[in-house]
Amino acid sequence: MTETQKRFDKSAYIETYGCQMNVADSALMTDVLETAGFRMTEELTEASLILLNTCAIREKAEERVQSRLQQLTQLKRVRPDLVLGVTGCMPKHLGKELLDRLPKVDLFIGPDSYRHLPRLVEEAQEKPTLSLRLDDEDYSDLSPVSIEGIHAFVPIMRGCDRFCTFCVVPLTRGREKSLALRDVVRQVEDAVAKGVRAVTLLGQTVNSWHHGEDRFVDLLRAVSDIDGLARIRFTSPHPVQFGEDVFALIAERENLCPHIHLPVQSGSTRILDSMKRGHTREEFLELVELIRRHLPDVGLTTDIIVGYPGETDEDFDETLSLVERSQFDSAFMFRYSPRSGTQAYRKLRDLEIPDDVSGARLSRLIELQESISVQRFARWEGREVRVLVEGPSRRNPRNAVGKSDDGKTVILPGGPEAGDLVDVRIEKTTSHTMMAFGIEEKNAEPATEVMEV
Ligand code: 5AD
Ligand code: SF4
Repeated sequence: MTETQKRFDKSAYIETYGCQMNVADSALMTDVLETAGFRMTEELTEASLILLNTCAIREKAEERVQSRLQQLTQLKRVRPDLVLGVTGCMPKHLGKELLDRLPKVDLFIGPDSYRHLPRLVEEAQEKPTLSLRLDDEDYSDLSPVSIEGIHAFVPIMRGCDRFCTFCVVPLTRGREKSLALRDVVRQVEDAVAKGVRAVTLLGQTVNSWHHGEDRFVDLLRAVSDIDGLARIRFTSPHPVQFGEDVFALIAERENLCPHIHLPVQSGSTRILDSMKRGHTREEFLELVELIRRHLPDVGLTTDIIVGYPGETDEDFDETLSLVERSQFDSAFMFRYSPRSGTQAYRKLRDLEIPDDVSGARLSRLIELQESISVQRFARWEGREVRVLVEGPSRRNPRNAVGKSDDGKTVILPGGPEAGDLVDVRIEKTTSHTMMAFGIEEKNAEPATEVMEV
């Protein structure tokens, strides 16, 4: 055994960037490491293994990780046994060039290699180590469920087959693979046994989940049947594979939340075609109508990209008008970020939009959505909603914070505990938060000074 190996004390720290799937992957890595005798620590400076679990979806995400790595490599001066690793989408996206670009990093691991983490960490103590193969890994025998408080993220599928032209995910996470229904049910049951009251089922195109004869609606029904679960959500569905049976089931079942995150990306059919999204503007608007027919109080949210290569002022106006018509409760809005390896990067570089143009479009879109969000939230003022309490509010521990079933953050007077379902009347709203009195406590102090944004 070398000196470095002797000093290495198997304490590990993981920092997570990016999407909810990464949060779940960090839980999976924690499980694999603990099984191999590692001890997890929240203290960066205590760890002999530091992993940054990274995202590649936009350039900014990769830049953040690179500057964080520069800070972390300083730690090696005081701790020569430190193994510094980068996991997830960024190493898979940038590949072997990272060995030259980041010579102080010891370990690069793609999303399909977490099972082999203990062996790879051992190798990395001796020489820079890289494992970026995609090999159809579904981790169904492990525990990829990430629990925080009363909530758990449960991956039900990995990867993506759709190859939208702007998106790096199919390149970093590989082809779509779904877990078996019984494996998902078992994982949710295990989480409920640990006190979980709400789950979010995860997948890149979560509604295309299928396994054998089972379709997404069957999985939702089976999870909804599990005793003790108050709330079930899923993210993110793709507009193309969305069956009406799913909305009908949500309307019928108390614990299936009328909260749908439905990425649209653009309101222009011409741009949607170029993105290879597989639907038109009109088809999306019809889908929104169909959802609202089944779920009149649905919380509807979306993702939008502005400044996609070749996007004209007219295309952008179509996006604004789709946003106006769809009346989303909120939206994640992004400026297009060219990603090497994607079709848009390979074929549409010469059509890229100047930064100042896409920046101005993004500001206009955010302003429009903000005004819509204000109205969408204000609709709830004076109405009664059922809140699943998550715990005390961070800003003011005398208050509690929770979620309405359509996914909105609600601040309510303290008292109820994490996991309680309480009915409250909404008193005041912003574009992000709703504030409530308890029905029984109409004369209590309003929680108005608290803004949890
Ligand atoms: N540039 C900007 N936004 C992107 N997204 C995915 N790829 C890119 C990109 N290259 C956005 C999409 C997706 C969300 C998760 O990230 O809106 O739905
Ligand atoms: Fe990316 Fe499109 Fe797959 Fe979503 S559906 S992960 S945007 S390729």
